[in-house]
Amino acid sequence: MAEVNIYEGALDKGLEGVVACTTKVSFIVGDSLNFRGYTIDDLAANSTFEEVTYLLWNDKLPNAQELAAFSTQLRNEMALSPDFIKVLKAIPTNVHPMGWLRTAVSLMAHWDSDANDNGAEANLRKSVRLTAKMGTLLCAFDAIRKGKEPVAPKADKSMAWNMMYMLGGGAEPKAEHVKVMDTCLILHADHELNCSAFATRVTASSLSDLHSAIVSAIGALKGPLHGGANEQVILMLQKIGTMEKAQQFVKDALAAKEKVMGIGHRVYKNGDPRARILRGMSDKLTKDAGIHHMYEMSTLIDDTMFNEKGLMPNVDFYSATVYFSMGIPTDLFTPIFAASRISGWCAHAFEQYANNRIYRPRGKWAGKEGLKWTPANQR
Ligand code: ACO
Repeated sequence: MAEVNIYEGALDKGLEGVVACTTKVSFIVGDSLNFRGYTIDDLAANSTFEEVTYLLWNDKLPNAQELAAFSTQLRNEMALSPDFIKVLKAIPTNVHPMGWLRTAVSLMAHWDSDANDNGAEANLRKSVRLTAKMGTLLCAFDAIRKGKEPVAPKADKSMAWNMMYMLGGGAEPKAEHVKVMDTCLILHADHELNCSAFATRVTASSLSDLHSAIVSAIGALKGPLHGGANEQVILMLQKIGTMEKAQQFVKDALAAKEKVMGIGHRVYKNGDPRARILRGMSDKLTKDAGIHHMYEMSTLIDDTMFNEKGLMPNVDFYSATVYFSMGIPTDLFTPIFAASRISGWCAHAFEQYANNRIYRPRGKWAGKEGLKWTPANQR
């Protein structure tokens, strides 16, 4: 029988259009994003991050009792132990917070009694701990690098409230900012087979442990073509400086074939629904913070990119000015993304473990062939 050429037409750089698995966690139809069948617009307008996490993990919205129990479970796991804080203080802080977070989550495994149990119940317990602690960790990083003691979270408050409370050094957060943070956590919670969710699933597919899968995901999210773009948006706006220079900046970037951060998407061609929601939030918050010129500059970049290239903003574009308006340090934007996306990563890991086959694609050979080894002194 003739050998089948598996490489013929099989190469797709970046796996564009390749369907890598079946999933019931989230899906994109046109320019609509859905979590377990609910649109992101519906959830952002009505839900909470705790409720959305329950939805992603359980394939249904909780009733009042289930939501109260789950929220309590999460909130009780937010605090870091004094022993663990001591260890965290030994990690260098003159590094990117995403690198620090990657190390901190890896270390967490060594304090987790379920670390090597890959059963469904143990994975659920670990997911609660990981999701509850991710926000606390990034706030602890910010405190430690400033030479301060990390602020302990309050178990009777929501995760969004605690994020703003701990980031603010223990000051009572503004109710409006808490609501904004909660909405941001919902908007970023999952996004189908994005780069970091895929990284989670690839690592889980070897039946490695959950912490390892999440460390892979954090590494993938860190990159500027994925979650790292939100931080880059502010750096770009600061570099441009004034409205007058914005259009030319975009044209120069396009002429030089450089990426304009926060713009473009592999899947959405008619706009990212999350960006539409964040745009309105950015308009209001930048006004309140007295930095509306940053929003105006953003909309000009947005329009210019559309007119010049037909590309539209993704989730990272307007979330940048939303976080910046609330006084959050720019380099913490991507860790905040991680503190939300952990819920989606865990949901993808559950799904992968429950119906696993190891990911093992092929590479199309493009290198040399038939070479013969010679001793080093003859080369
Ligand atoms: N700025 C300038 N040109 C762009 C941009 C951009 N932001 N995005 C895409 N393009 C151009 C490319 O140069 C290419 O043009 P060409 O056909 O003339 O060569 C074309 O659009 C297709 O772009 P690709 O990079 O091939 O698109 P891909 O689907 O591989 O990448 C991505 C999608 C990574 C989001 C890309 O648009 C990008 O790099 N954007 C900037 C970084 C960013 O915002 N990342 C966050 C994405 S959302 C998230 O992960 C949370």
